[in-house]
Amino acid sequence: MDIKALIREIPDFPKPGIVFKDITTLLQDPAGLKYTIDLLAEKCGAFAPDYIVGMESRGFIFGTPLAYRMGAGFIPVRKPGKLPAAVHSVEYELEYGTDCLEMHKDAFTTGCRILIVDDLIATGGTAGATAKLVQNIGCELVGCAFVIELTALKGRQRLPDVPIVTLVEY
Ligand code: PRP
Ligand code: ADE
Repeated sequence: MDIKALIREIPDFPKPGIVFKDITTLLQDPAGLKYTIDLLAEKCGAFAPDYIVGMESRGFIFGTPLAYRMGAGFIPVRKPGKLPAAVHSVEYELEYGTDCLEMHKDAFTTGCRILIVDDLIATGGTAGATAKLVQNIGCELVGCAFVIELTALKGRQRLPDVPIVTLVEY
């Protein structure tokens, strides 16, 4: 199955010069969606996570079925002000300024095994900040998994030294 062939590229979205990798065309393909989740589960099986942490919003789309498939729980990391109970927060650098991500404080217990999942790694800012959030509260980050990696942006350099799974590279 050619996952890349199911990912649509939209030039100059959301800004001039960005080639947006549109996963909606992959999601709407029944065989493509199943293959993607099954392949992530196969490649991440050895990590044996207790929980998958997925980042708003496209990390939810792949993280939740993967958690179901792997027999793990799913924990959402959200943009500020969305989660209703007490949160841990982490700030991270954007091209201009900073942004923030939040996770419920009572989402998991110290020492549990966490796999971070998102649709795409570009600069690694989002995943790097999520990794800090997980590690700051004393959980074991066992791996990170992305459907898409934009290799030229060197996002891996912003992640801690854990195994990284990616399915397609640009
Ligand atoms: C996209 C993507 C990743 C992040 C990757 O999310 O889904 O989460 O950017 O970029 P980075 O590696 O440079 O941090 P976005 O912030 O566009 O949010 P969305 O999923 O809600 O569209
Ligand atoms: N997030 C960051 N860069 C992206 C891109 N080129 N396509 C889709 N999502 C992105």
